Amino acid sequence: MSKLDNKIALVTGGTGGIGTAICQRLADDGAKIVTTSTNLEKAAKWQAKQNFDSTIIKCDVSNYDDCKSMKEQIEKELGVVDIVVNNAGITRDGSFRKMDTDKWSQVITTNLNSVFNISHQFVDGMTEKGYGRIVNISSINGQKGQFGQTNYSAAKAGVHGFTMALAQEVARKGVTVNTVSPGYIATEMVMAVPEEIRNKIIAQIPIGRLGEPEEIGALVAFLCSDEAGLITGANLAANGGQHMH
Ligand code: CAA
Repeated sequence: MSKLDNKIALVTGGTGGIGTAICQRLADDGAKIVTTSTNLEKAAKWQAKQNFDSTIIKCDVSNYDDCKSMKEQIEKELGVVDIVVNNAGITRDGSFRKMDTDKWSQVITTNLNSVFNISHQFVDGMTEKGYGRIVNISSINGQKGQFGQTNYSAAKAGVHGFTMALAQEVARKGVTVNTVSPGYIATEMVMAVPEEIRNKIIAQIPIGRLGEPEEIGALVAFLCSDEAGLITGANLAANGGQHMH
């Protein structure tokens, strides 16, 4: 029997760089994978390329009602969700002087409000069952700040505040809530940073390379396992030593 057999795992934004590796690893460990996408056509192409089964549900995580309908659909088709990985996120970088209200609110709604919108649907099911795992994907830049990311750094720091508060509320019900803060990982999001700037960032990483999405998948899978029951309210950094605190 694998570690996560019979568990239902929802990974938001599972078709992205880190999301795919999380889905893959949770599937390898035996979980049934559900993911969200705003673009079903693109998601179906993604699904066809994976070597694990998944259910994709159209859902805009920044919209509460969409998240509510998604939860109803999952419960009807599969059952009560055991694991939630709040992974969906975007960047809209720009120095603060050039940041407009659109860039600010798109990042806050997609990266922070989504964590409320999604978690709110599933916490009752988990506490009633007496078991659950919530993993929120934050970022090194929520811990240390980053030039050009006032919006993203604020949202990602907010995510860990949410983690610590909810972890206390559900601790006695067998539900753990943790944050994973990846550093710079080799995904499209990081490759979109201009090469010259990206190379300067890589030069600041003590291990001398970008992270691999699979390295984040492995950490998330550990937090989702039964063995990680002691860990809650934590913020686990996986950044090659770029930021230590
Ligand atoms: N520190 C200090 N000054 C800096 C700086 C830095 N890190 N970067 C740029 N500057 C300076 C420039 O030298 C320039 O100075 P002068 O005006 O004196 O010449 C000035 O700031 C440029 O300011 P602008 O407002 O004109 O900025 P820009 O439009 O040229 O570019 C930017 C700003 C788009 C944010 C660009 O700096 C950038 O892409 N930075 C990288 C942001 C980043 O790391 N994003 C991460 C994306 S991946 C991700 O988010 C995943 C994850 O979780 C890690």
